[in-house]
Amino acid sequence: MSIDAADSGQHPELNAADIPVGVIGVGLMGTSIVSCLLAAGHPVVGLESDSEQRRRAPEEVRAQLEELIREGFLESSSSELVERFRITGDLAHLEGSHLVIECISEDIEAKRQTFNAVEKVIPPTAVIGSNTSAIPLTLLQKGMCHPERLLGIHWTEPAHIGRFLEIIMGEETAPQCVEYVTELACLWSKEPTLVRRDIRGFIANRICYAMFREAFHLVESGIAGIEDVDRSVRNDVGYWITFAGPFRYMDLMGVSAYEKVMRDLLPELNSSPEVPRLMKDTVESGAKGISNCRGFYKYTPEEAKHWKELFHQFTFEIHRLAETYPDDAAPSTETKTSTKDTE
Ligand SMILES: NC(=O)c1ccc[n+]([C@@H]2O[C@H](COP(=O)([O-])OP(=O)(O)OC[C@H]3O[C@@H](n4cnc5c(N)ncnc54)[C@H](O)[C@@H]3O)[C@@H](O)[C@H]2O)c1
Repeated sequence: MSIDAADSGQHPELNAADIPVGVIGVGLMGTSIVSCLLAAGHPVVGLESDSEQRRRAPEEVRAQLEELIREGFLESSSSELVERFRITGDLAHLEGSHLVIECISEDIEAKRQTFNAVEKVIPPTAVIGSNTSAIPLTLLQKGMCHPERLLGIHWTEPAHIGRFLEIIMGEETAPQCVEYVTELACLWSKEPTLVRRDIRGFIANRICYAMFREAFHLVESGIAGIEDVDRSVRNDVGYWITFAGPFRYMDLMGVSAYEKVMRDLLPELNSSPEVPRLMKDTVESGAKGISNCRGFYKYTPEEAKHWKELFHQFTFEIHRLAETYPDDAAPSTETKTSTKDTE
């Protein structure tokens, strides 16, 4: 489907094999996005500027597809799927893409230049998605020939396993592009959410960063250590959050108790606009996390590798668990909150 097809009211059944996708930037996230798209059956062209990464990416993709097969999430052979993947340094090879997903570094100017260049190559009906973590889509739409075809398609790492996908509208995004990508997201085994206004950070990151800020505040104020903060969050929020989002959780626990706590607690939560000192010092010291064995914790190379593998394993487990307890698990007698209720 294209923007034209949507305009004319046609909604043909989507078949991934007939929908070539281009992925620009096949780094950490681009690689797992490519794997997800191949697993769904799309032919994929990856555009990557770094020649070393162009050499590495196909093997990484193969390993991720094999992981999906091993875990029972995919039945096809990884070799067959990898054959549908072509990686290139030449933008012209994106020519036939019906959808292009941009996944380069988080730099507004670099992303804008990429959209300008790609619009010269792809048909005007092709849709463009940006995996930006936080840049408002409306800013990225400025200067595009067809800003209506740009929307946010925000994945989380590892994209081939998780169920998360935020679809974000900029001011000029055409609703039919949103509809199209929402349908595609189901082929990608995602549970998409719609962000109707492109507020910085969208949904999940805004909530996550509010939590990160408070976590730093507790540590920097000497109220608790890093390990204690991690352990508390893990065993409270961490235990229920895959089962229920914040609103369902408050329904389960009793709404009025939360209202009472909010009255006294909200004024005391940290609301500083500054990046926390501990974060600045950690980054300035060169600590990157498990990638260089130094972050908020220290790791031996074996421990770092082990944490990475465990996280992957856990992501598969969570995917299975979430499927056992879907959003619509209960008989459909509930009254859903309509958009009108909140506007
Ligand atoms: N890492 C995450 O967990 C995560 C989660 C959600 C969203 N994102 C977003 O995804 C985007 C990419 O993040 P990442 O972590 O994969 O970064 P990354 O640095 O691992 O990958 C970016 C890749 O893009 C390539 N690249 C840069 N400019 C290019 C260009 N003009 N043409 C082709 N290739 C180009 C780089 O060589 C690199 O391989 C960012 O906008 C980031 O904010 C990342």
